[in-house]
Amino acid sequence: MNKYFLDLGKQPLANNYLKIYSNVQIKYHLKLFFNTKNKIVSISKRIPSEKMFNNTYPYRSSMSKTMKNSFFKLSLEIKKKFNPKKILEIGSNDGALIKNFDKKKVIGIEPCNNLAKITLKKGFITYNKYWNYKLAQKLKRKHGNIDLIYSANTLTHISNLNDVFRSISYLLSKKGILIIEDPSLLECMKKNSYDQFYNEHIYLFSAISVKNLLNKFNFEIFDIKNLSTHGGSIRYYIKKKSNKNLKINNNVKKQIQNEIKYGLHKFKTYKKFSNNVQRSRKNLLKILQKIKNNGKKIAGYGATAKAVTILNYCNINKDLIQNFIDITPEKINRYMPGKKIKILKYNRNILNNYDYIFLGAWNFKEEIFNKEKKFIKRGGKFITHIPQPKII
Ligand code: TMP
Repeated sequence: MNKYFLDLGKQPLANNYLKIYSNVQIKYHLKLFFNTKNKIVSISKRIPSEKMFNNTYPYRSSMSKTMKNSFFKLSLEIKKKFNPKKILEIGSNDGALIKNFDKKKVIGIEPCNNLAKITLKKGFITYNKYWNYKLAQKLKRKHGNIDLIYSANTLTHISNLNDVFRSISYLLSKKGILIIEDPSLLECMKKNSYDQFYNEHIYLFSAISVKNLLNKFNFEIFDIKNLSTHGGSIRYYIKKKSNKNLKINNNVKKQIQNEIKYGLHKFKTYKKFSNNVQRSRKNLLKILQKIKNNGKKIAGYGATAKAVTILNYCNINKDLIQNFIDITPEKINRYMPGKKIKILKYNRNILNNYDYIFLGAWNFKEEIFNKEKKFIKRGGKFITHIPQPKII
């Protein structure tokens, strides 16, 4: 049974950065639910994928050093540990991972045409398609079974998880490895990072819920790695149950125990989270209002989808945060979805115009602090809402 626990209000499409501001943007009610049976946390309203993942999708994995390094390291690990003959990535984005592999060995699946074009141009086999059973059948006919399937920050975006895993199970070889990587529900709860929820993130996984999901398809997790990317993610290493060659690492049990200890299997944990989030909104607004009253200026750093949730949930307007700053070409000179706050192109001097930076990309805090030593030196301050609103 799905039980409701948090209302994040009316939210626009998180990655719909408009060139010309309009106050009649379509908004969808963002409500969060906990399934008491399979322990999955999900949002209520499902928006057709075509509306979100199209030919103007602005998110690019290669925009941060942190992500590029993470993918590079993973590629080394995959080659060393599993040495796969054929690798498939579901949601290959702009190729941040696949570019680390031999072009003959790797296949990308990317529904956003503007992103698929990037890897196609570089000579990587890329299917500009949504991941589903029909595509899995086509791939099997053309390429045979695949021995390593990888997907980062993608499966949480796909409504029909049964179709996702059925298709993977069909295409993956008997001894094949599936690696999936997504934000960790445990970290989200601990950090009170409610901005992990936006209409693209249909699910937020825990090891408990992934285990339950996989069970139906005779898959099992054999290893788990906690990562710092995206504000705390989990990388799940998965195999078919029939493959007895790989031992199950103790990490899997440990992660599940930690999640149970925190109460991720109980509804009351989510009610507590909901109260924390409401308190976080009040406190963030207090901080921003005080800065405004002192006549100081604030810029958001990183025009993230996460920041869209915050702006629209807390109803933060241009009087509180004047601009956002970002390096992504697809976002520059556009407006933050739902708000008349313009995104400006990052340059080394732009921060001179502001006294405070609100960390929209709080998940890249270290990378940003390293980059903005000059701003810090001249007394510039950062604002974050993680794990609770404060000035750093
Ligand atoms: P994400 O948190 O969803 O990965 O998005 C990060 C956003 O922040 C993306 O739009 C790129 C942007 N960004 C910058 O503009 N400058 C930076 O130094 C970093 C690390 C990210």
